[in-house]
Amino acid sequence: MLKDTFNRQINYLRLSITDMCNLRCIYCQPLHRIKKKTHVELLSYEEVTRLAQLMSQLGIRRIRVTGGEPLIKRDILYLLKELGKIESLEEISLTTNGTKLSQFAPQLKDSGVKRLNISLGSLDKDRYAQMTGGGNLNDVLFGIKEALNAGLVPLKINVVIMQGINDDEIVLFARLTLDEPLYIRFIEFMPINQPMEVWIERYIPNQVLKRRLASYFTLIPINGLAGNTPVEYYKIKDSMGGIGFISPISDHFCSKCNRLRLTPDGHLRLCLGDDMETDLKTPLRNRASDDELKELIKEALKFRAKGHQFQLKVPKSRLMSAIGG
Ligand code: 5AD
Ligand code: SF4
Repeated sequence: MLKDTFNRQINYLRLSITDMCNLRCIYCQPLHRIKKKTHVELLSYEEVTRLAQLMSQLGIRRIRVTGGEPLIKRDILYLLKELGKIESLEEISLTTNGTKLSQFAPQLKDSGVKRLNISLGSLDKDRYAQMTGGGNLNDVLFGIKEALNAGLVPLKINVVIMQGINDDEIVLFARLTLDEPLYIRFIEFMPINQPMEVWIERYIPNQVLKRRLASYFTLIPINGLAGNTPVEYYKIKDSMGGIGFISPISDHFCSKCNRLRLTPDGHLRLCLGDDMETDLKTPLRNRASDDELKELIKEALKFRAKGHQFQLKVPKSRLMSAIGG
């Protein structure tokens, strides 16, 4: 069993396999430009699989593949299948922006992906294009439809809400849950590589959203959907889906945090809000043994922060797309 110095059990890995993305979401935009990684700087699929395997031996049970946008990586299905062969893993899941989903949905189901999260910031075509630097909303909506058709349910849609940008759409988003097994999850905007003044202007606590929604719908608390992220779920009466609130700022769930992150260039990131990382790629390429690598991972955990301090300190070394959302 893998534990940190605060006795938190670590069994979940976010695997960011690319920092490239075909969109430029405003909540993920750079505070300053960070140089793109070259091909050799990034881990190969073989290297990723080896590290995943070692981590599973240490106690990781579930892996979420993320990016950047994982579905723009070549041969992504091959990687998913390789990860699926790791015996002690109970679950492989994927986070995507959904733009390429329509062509991938059936194959994803076949490759063994259990849970799919789709990031979507707006249901208005023009606003979506604006928020994502030119994305096409129809691609995502079509992708969602195909994912439902392929039986990738329950399907989770992650919505980062920013005050004055898309907070007027929460009722529309909530209505999506009425007739489809969709779980809309409102995520508080975090100041990751963001100018502090932008964050202060745009951050809106989930309590405010909940109160607003409650004036339109009767929200019934539900549980039993517990995944890896602390989410508070509700349901509109007689709806097929649900509404979740993920509140990293106002609810500061760090004490329950069970995850590690592996960056596309092979650094183990211990906390989203802390720039402290351990380089695993260099020893990996210098032919470190399995035991040596496992020791490095265990050693790194000693430096895992107690929690983020977003209000005081903005992590700056990487964009969200290179950390893994
Ligand atoms: N705050 C909260 N969530 C973010 N994401 C990206 N940037 C931020 C941010 N600043 C999340 C989005 C997306 C995932 C890749 O990361 O939900 O779904
Ligand atoms: Fe790409 Fe996701 Fe970042 Fe949007 S949030 S730019 S889809 S990595």
